[in-house]
Amino acid sequence: LKGDPESTEISKPVHSDWEIPRSSLTLGKVLGKGQFGEVRLGELRKRGVTQTVAVKTLKEFAEDRDKEDLKGELDILVTVGRHDNIISLVGACTVEGPLVLVVEYAPNGCLKDWLKDNRPEELNQTDIPSSGIQLPMDQLIMFGIDIANGMSHLAAMQCVHRDLAARNVLLGKNLTAKISDFGLSRDIYEESEYVTSTKSQLPVRWLAYESLFYHVYTTQSDVWSFGILLWEIMTMGKKPYGQTTGKELMKLLPTGYRLEKPAVCPQDVYDVMTICWETLPENRPTFPQLRATLDRIIQDHT
Ligand code: ADE
Repeated sequence: LKGDPESTEISKPVHSDWEIPRSSLTLGKVLGKGQFGEVRLGELRKRGVTQTVAVKTLKEFAEDRDKEDLKGELDILVTVGRHDNIISLVGACTVEGPLVLVVEYAPNGCLKDWLKDNRPEELNQTDIPSSGIQLPMDQLIMFGIDIANGMSHLAAMQCVHRDLAARNVLLGKNLTAKISDFGLSRDIYEESEYVTSTKSQLPVRWLAYESLFYHVYTTQSDVWSFGILLWEIMTMGKKPYGQTTGKELMKLLPTGYRLEKPAVCPQDVYDVMTICWETLPENRPTFPQLRATLDRIIQDHT
């Protein structure tokens, strides 16, 4: 699975079942930009049928690390297979040029943007709990259920995501949440945990205790990130820990300090977040348990 770093530009298709001829793709507007490159809207023609897709490309002078991440993302998507709550692979252009990844187009964009666009004005002005602000609570909990569902599948396929956050969740038809951005994901089949040697560029605010201090990544560290993601959902897209710096966070977390209950958040949903942030990974719930708990909460609310 790891492959060699050169394999992005060799002339034998790496996953021939998924190979797409470059000439069958037409690129449209930019959907998103990263330091790696960009994602564009695209049209894929196949046997006279045109399909709307999202196309992920590297910038012209991409670093080897970015090339490896994109190649790794392709490998992970092939391995993980189809699931309604995971962005699905359409194919890839791997021969005769730079690697291009083609995935399902999610018409409702990224979850982080949706949350910010739908945030009630009053939420920006007050930190006072339950001052009559209405949030689309069922929809918000549904996002959590979808994501726990997708993560259950990922975990069953021995894959750790390592970058689970609202910016990496896309919204499909009917606002179905789909986990995306597997560039940092790893197959942990042999070791059951992934230990990085160097301090790779990872988002500190979403990192589990053991990832932050020991560079250890497991499904249980994805559960910590899921708790942070639930907090992002319940604050309609706020930045976790606000102005606190990563350095300060490394001093605070060992004292037991954690994110506070958002102004408008049911206690039972906050309880779900806080068990995700147990210092010992084995004390955190599993993704199937999280899904079941959120299912129960949504029943109780209605
Ligand atoms: N932005 C990044 N990836 C996307 C996708 N697959 N669909 C829609 N918007 C995106």
